[in-house]
Amino acid sequence: MARSRPASRWTLLLSLVVLIACIVVPGLAVKHENFKTCDQSGFCKRNRAYADNASAQGSSWSSPYELDPATIHFKDGQLTGVLVKTISDTEKVYLPLTLSFLESGAARLLVDEERRLKGDIEIRHGSKVNKKRYDEAEKWVIVGGLDASKSAALDGQSETGSTKVLYGPEDKFEAIIRHSPFEVEFQRDGQTHVQLNHQGFLNMEHWRPKVEGKDEESGEDESTWWEESFGGNTDSKPRGPESVGLDISFPGYNHVFGIPEHADSLSLKETRGGSGNHENPYRMYNSDVFEYELDSPMTLYGSIPFMQAHRKGSSVGVFWLNAAETWVDIVKKSAASNPLSMSAASKTNTHTHWFSEAGRIDLFIFLGPTPQALSKTYGELTGYTQLPQHFAIAYHQCRWNYVTDEDVKEVDAKFDKYQIPYDVIWLDLEYTDDRKYFTWDPLTFPDPKGMQEKLDASERKLVVLIDPHIKNKDDYYVSKELNSKGLAVQNKDGEVYDGWCWPGSSNWIDCFNPAAFPWWSSLHKYDKFKGSMSNLFIWNDMNEPSVFNGPETTMPKDNIHYGNWEHRDVHNVNGLTLVNATYQAMLERKKGEIRRPFILTRSYYSGAQRLAAMWTGDNQATWGHLAASLPMVLNNGIAGFPFAGADVGGFFNNPEKELLSRWYQAGIWYPFFRAHAHIDTRRREPYLISEPYRTIISQAIRLRYQLLPAWYTAFHEASVNGTPIVRPQYYVFPDDEEGFAIDDQLYLGDTGLLAKPVVQENTFTTDIYIADDEKYYDYFDFTVYQGAGKRHTVPAPEDKIPLLIQGGHIVPRRDRPRRSSALMRWDPYTFVITLDKNGEANGTLYVDDGETFDYERGGYIHRRFQYRESVLSSEDISTKGAKTAEYLKTMAGVTVERVIIIDPPASWKDKNSVTVIEDGAKAGSTASLEYFEQKGGKASYAVVKSPNVGIGKNWRIEF
Ligand code: GLC
Repeated sequence: MARSRPASRWTLLLSLVVLIACIVVPGLAVKHENFKTCDQSGFCKRNRAYADNASAQGSSWSSPYELDPATIHFKDGQLTGVLVKTISDTEKVYLPLTLSFLESGAARLLVDEERRLKGDIEIRHGSKVNKKRYDEAEKWVIVGGLDASKSAALDGQSETGSTKVLYGPEDKFEAIIRHSPFEVEFQRDGQTHVQLNHQGFLNMEHWRPKVEGKDEESGEDESTWWEESFGGNTDSKPRGPESVGLDISFPGYNHVFGIPEHADSLSLKETRGGSGNHENPYRMYNSDVFEYELDSPMTLYGSIPFMQAHRKGSSVGVFWLNAAETWVDIVKKSAASNPLSMSAASKTNTHTHWFSEAGRIDLFIFLGPTPQALSKTYGELTGYTQLPQHFAIAYHQCRWNYVTDEDVKEVDAKFDKYQIPYDVIWLDLEYTDDRKYFTWDPLTFPDPKGMQEKLDASERKLVVLIDPHIKNKDDYYVSKELNSKGLAVQNKDGEVYDGWCWPGSSNWIDCFNPAAFPWWSSLHKYDKFKGSMSNLFIWNDMNEPSVFNGPETTMPKDNIHYGNWEHRDVHNVNGLTLVNATYQAMLERKKGEIRRPFILTRSYYSGAQRLAAMWTGDNQATWGHLAASLPMVLNNGIAGFPFAGADVGGFFNNPEKELLSRWYQAGIWYPFFRAHAHIDTRRREPYLISEPYRTIISQAIRLRYQLLPAWYTAFHEASVNGTPIVRPQYYVFPDDEEGFAIDDQLYLGDTGLLAKPVVQENTFTTDIYIADDEKYYDYFDFTVYQGAGKRHTVPAPEDKIPLLIQGGHIVPRRDRPRRSSALMRWDPYTFVITLDKNGEANGTLYVDDGETFDYERGGYIHRRFQYRESVLSSEDISTKGAKTAEYLKTMAGVTVERVIIIDPPASWKDKNSVTVIEDGAKAGSTASLEYFEQKGGKASYAVVKSPNVGIGKNWRIEF
C-alpha cells in the first residue's frame, strides 16, 4: 500500500489501483531497513560496547568517574559536587552534579558538563547550534513537585568514601553516595531498591576537538563520532559524540514495566538476546513506523521514559528526563549469590542500562512503595491527566475519510436510525482544500457550518485533523505567515527546512519558539479558521514529526529549532510542543468561551497527559493487533498517560465481522474509544455490519454508555491521583506474584469491574484470573466465580463480553439509551451493588458539567456510597467552592431510579420494601424491593425500585 497519496480528486483512479493491489494483497510488514537497529546507531553501539567491556572485565573494571569529596556540599535538601571523569593522568573532565531530595519523596540526579556550560567548546561546520547540553526539557514536562525536602539531612553515620543522606517520609529513605568509583544506592527501610552505576556503565561522552587521523593513532573507533549516515542521509554532528549513559539496577525485582510506546508485553523483556528475549534495546525515538510489528522493542510514535520495577510488596521507579533519542537495555540475573536480595525480594535482579544521544543526565528516582504512590509522585512532577470533556470519553467514529459534508450528515443520521449512540465524528486529511490545514475543500465541504449545526442538534462534535507540516505554497496564507514571521524549523544551514509530507513540499511550525504560540492560536480563531464552530475539536497527527523523505521518516537531527537547539536535542518533546500550542489555541478561540480543549495526539512525551488523548497509531486489522492493544493501553496508563486507545477495527485492511465485533467488545475498555480505518478499506460503520454482528457491536457501545458514570469517575481519579483508568492485574493486586505478568485482562478504575476481552478468533470461552477469595459475579447474569490464585473459565460466545464484578462494590451507571452522552446529562442513575465477605460495599461517583472549568471552583458532585449493616448511604466528599450551589441546583432533579443488589442475604426473600431517608429527614418514605431467586450457579438479586434519592444529596436507604 502506498504511503503518500495524492489528493481526493484522484480517488477514482486510485480506487482502480487499489482494486488491483487488493488482488495481490501483500503481507503488511514494517520496513526494517528504514529504522536503525542498535548496531546502526552510533551512540547505541558505543554504549553497549562500553557496557560489554565493563562486564567482560568483571571485578577488575573500575568506572572512571569519581565524586571529588572536596567539592561536596549539602544544603537545603540538595547535595552538589563535581564528578570527575579521568581519561588519563593529565586529562580529566569535570561534570557538575546535583542530587536533590524532594518533598514528595523523589530524588533527582542531574549531571552536566562544565566546559559546555561555560561555552568553552568549538562547534564544527560553522554551525550556530547551542554549546550547552539541552537543559529545557523540563520546561515542557515538569509542572510541580520540585520543592526541596525540608527534612533531608546528612546521615551522621557516613563512612569515609561515601556520603549518606536520609530523606523521604519519616526519613525512611536513604541515599548512599559512594565517591570512588561513583555509585548511588537508594534504600528504603534499610533495603536497597535502586542502584546507579553499580555496574559501572556510567558514560558521559565529553566534548573533544576532532583531530584528523587520531583514531588510527589511539586505536579508538571514531567512525560514528563526527558524522553518521543512514538510508542515504548524513548527519553532520557539529558537536561530535555527546551521549550520556547510566546503568540502573533493581535488586530483587523480577518485573519492570513502563517506557512506552512499544508494541510489546506489559512486563518488559530482556534485550540482550537469548530465547524469548529481544536482540535490541527498547528504543524511544518518536517515529512514524509504517506497518509496525508486534512483540518488538522498536520505537513507535511516543515516548515516556518512566519505568517501574515491581516485586511482591514493593514498587519503585525511575524517570529519565531526556528529550533526545534514548535506548534501554534490560537484563535479568539470578540473585542467588547476591547478598542484597532479601527474603521478600524475588530471586532475580533486574539491571537496566539507559543511554541518550545528547543532553544531560537528569534522573528522578521514586521509592514507592506502591504502584499508586508512583502514579502520584510521577504525576506531581509531570502533571495529571486532564479531566476531559465528557463527550471525549464516549464513542468516536472516524475514518480516512468522510468524503463530503453530506456524507457526514448521512452517517450521523444512520447512527440514529439504527439507535447506536456516538458522540463524535472525525474528519481526516481530505476535508481540506488541497491538504492546506485551516481550509475546507470547497467542492466536498461547501457547508461546514450546516454540518456542524446538524451534529450539534444531538450535541455531537466534530474533530478535524490539523498536522504540523504546512504546505509550502505561495498562495496559502498559513504558509506565507509561517515564513514571514520566521516560525519554521530550519535546516542545519539556517534556511527554512523543506521536507515531504501529505501536502507534498512542506515546512514545519517550530513550537519551541514562544512566538509560534500566539500565531497558532490566531489560526484557530473562528473568524480565521472559517467554517469552524464551537463543537469542532482538533486532532494533531504526524507530530513526531513525520517526514516522508527524512531519515527514519523524521527530521534530520542537525535541523535547528528556536534557541539554536539541534533537533537531536529536542526530538522526543517535539510532538508535545505542538500539542501545547494547540491546547493554548483551543482555549483562546473566542474571548470568554472557556471550555476544556479536546486534542488527540499521535506523538507524545511525559506531560502530554495534561493536554490530550493518544492512540496507538496505524495498527492493522488482525487478531494479533487486537491482542497487542491491551498491554499497550495498560502500559500507557501506568506510565501516567491513561487517556489512550487503539484504532478499533484496525487501521490497515478489512477486518472480518467476527474480528470487528470482538474489537468493539475490547475497544469499549480503551479510555479513548475510537473506530478508525485507512482510506483504502471498506466502510465499516457499525450499522453497515450484517446481523448478528450489528447488534453485538451496538450492545458493546451501549455498555460503554451505560458505564459512563463509572468511566468519568475513573477519569476524575486519574486527574487528581495519576491512577490509571484501566488497570493491569499487578496494579490492583501488588502482592500476588501470579498476576504480575498478566496483561490481557483489566480493571476499570476502582469499580471492581474486571474485563477480559476475547482477542482470539473462533474462541467462545476465556479464562479469567482471580487473585483473591472474594466472590466475582458475571456482570450480565450474576454467575458466581470464586477461588483465589487461579483461572476460571467463563463463557464467551460471540455476543458476550467476559466481564465480572468483584464483591464489595457499588457501581453507578445510567441505563437509558440515548443518541449521545450529552443527552444523558439529566438521566437518573442505577446502582449495582455486590457485597464483600463482610457483607459490605463501597463506591464513588464524580459528576460535573462535563464541559467547562467550573469544577475547579466547586461546580461538581463527588459522593462516596457505602453499604454497611443493611444501610446504603451517600456521603459528600467534595470540596465546596463558588460554583457548588449553582451546579447542585442544576442537578437537583437527577436521582437514583434503581438499586440492584447482587447476592443479597437470603432473608430478603420475605422483604418487599426499604426505608428511604433523604437529607436527614426524620421520617422516611418507602420504596419497593423485589427479590429474584436464581439457581444453577447464578446469584439471586434484589431490586429497589424508584428510591428517587437525589444524586447530589445525603441519604440513607435502610434494608
Ligand atoms: C496517519 C495517521 C492516520 C491517518 C492518516 C491520514 O497515518 O496515523 O490515523 O488516518 O495519517 O491522515
